[in-house]
Amino acid sequence: TQVLILNGPNLGRLGVREPEIYGHASMADLEREGARWGDDLGLSVGVCQTDDESTLVGWLHEAVDARAHVVLNPAAFTHYSYALRDAAAQVTSAGLLLVEVHLSNPASRESFRHYSVVAGIATGTVAGFGFDSYRLALSAIATKLSD
Ligand code: DQA
Repeated sequence: TQVLILNGPNLGRLGVREPEIYGHASMADLEREGARWGDDLGLSVGVCQTDDESTLVGWLHEAVDARAHVVLNPAAFTHYSYALRDAAAQVTSAGLLLVEVHLSNPASRESFRHYSVVAGIATGTVAGFGFDSYRLALSAIATKLSD
């Protein structure tokens, strides 16, 4: 079972970007850890990051075509990108799982972060647990698939 962990803008700066909010681990750490968590859960996990909206939209299209489930941290696109929402909607509409993930808890931060345009089409959301948010999302996918 294939799962893609897709990450949006500024997440390539993890480890140096506002570490008091996003922690000290890097995207390279997530690539390594994600593969390891996947091994433990029986999932084949790939990790990608882009600052570019159209690239992220394209990866969601590819996930649908490849029948891959998705863990998506849309970063700032969460709050305003209807193009991303429409691409993500195709994943769940195709019967695949899509878990929205955030390192921080957007609900406890600035008001512009309180609304997610993606949440309404996601299978579910995990937020506020730092890197562990990604592991929890993978675990939720593995559990749901075994139901
Ligand atoms: C984020 C939260 C977003 O509000 C923010 O724009 C990000 C990261 C998170 O993982 O906590 O870039 O998605």
